[in-house]
Amino acid sequence: MTAPEWIELQLQLPREQCELAEELLLALEASSVTLEDGADQPLLEPAIGERPLWDLVIVKGLFAGDVATAPIEAALAAELPRAPLQQRWVPLDNRDWSQEWKRYFEPIQCGQRLWICPSWMAPPQPDAVNLILDPGLAFGTGSHPTTHLCLRWLEQLPLTGATVIDYGCGSGILGIAALLLGAERVIAVDNDPLALTATADNADNNQIAPERIATYLPEHLPADSGADIVLANILAEPLIQLADTLVALLKPRGQLCLSGLLDSQLEAVTRPYQRAVAFQPPAIEQGWVQIAGTLRG
Ligand SMILES: C[S@@+](CC[C@H](N)C(=O)[O-])C[C@H]1O[C@@H](n2cnc3c(N)ncnc32)[C@H](O)[C@@H]1O
Repeated sequence: MTAPEWIELQLQLPREQCELAEELLLALEASSVTLEDGADQPLLEPAIGERPLWDLVIVKGLFAGDVATAPIEAALAAELPRAPLQQRWVPLDNRDWSQEWKRYFEPIQCGQRLWICPSWMAPPQPDAVNLILDPGLAFGTGSHPTTHLCLRWLEQLPLTGATVIDYGCGSGILGIAALLLGAERVIAVDNDPLALTATADNADNNQIAPERIATYLPEHLPADSGADIVLANILAEPLIQLADTLVALLKPRGQLCLSGLLDSQLEAVTRPYQRAVAFQPPAIEQGWVQIAGTLRG
């Protein structure tokens, strides 16, 4: 019998040990590590940016089929504080398992003319506005309802010549979409330096000239920054705290788009903005809300 091309080590662990197990498996040269529910426990509505985990988790490390399994087991036994509740090696059939995760990413249409497409797939509508984006560490692939709602709102705006601020840019998806849809310039802001790197890389992958997109940590944003459109897909609490900051970034008659809040949080989030911004009715997808409005004259 021929050896399988891939073999998977499956460890059932309590949640607290997952991060360490994941790091160890990658250090032991697993081609990929995935986490699955170890006790059929549903996770209800995780907050954006959170990486929720079940109480019991199956950590799966993918290895080449001819890997020496004993040293891996020995290294895990030496480093994990407690032995896994279950541990087994599972040979996999000869699919390319290192690429399996790609099955979960499909091109996403946002409105009439905008598509978010992974780089390994041909855009379904080559003549559409196609934003090429691969999943990475920073939030924003277009699959989350909040991102999708903002993209649909952006897509129907006349953007030619506009300056846009993407506050809480994550992968840069909203700002890059604005540029591809005709905006002149984007200022992308995030308090996570990794998000700023991802945004610059993703802009480059979409042939955006570097002078059209600037990235800043909030504390480095130039004091005279202003925009025709300010997008902020963050979470309810930061949106409430950032109200004065975001309003101050709007040019006269500028438009503000907020998302990342739940239906039940709409009133609390819009309250600190109401005096400055005249909001239109919200859009809602799967309980998540996007609301936009214009700076009062
Ligand atoms: C939900 S993600 C949105 C990413 C992307 N704009 C999208 O629409 O998919 C929120 C982003 O806001 C960033 N963020 C959270 N609080 C922030 C704050 N106070 N200032 C700046 N960025 C913040 C996070 O690091 C994260 O990248």
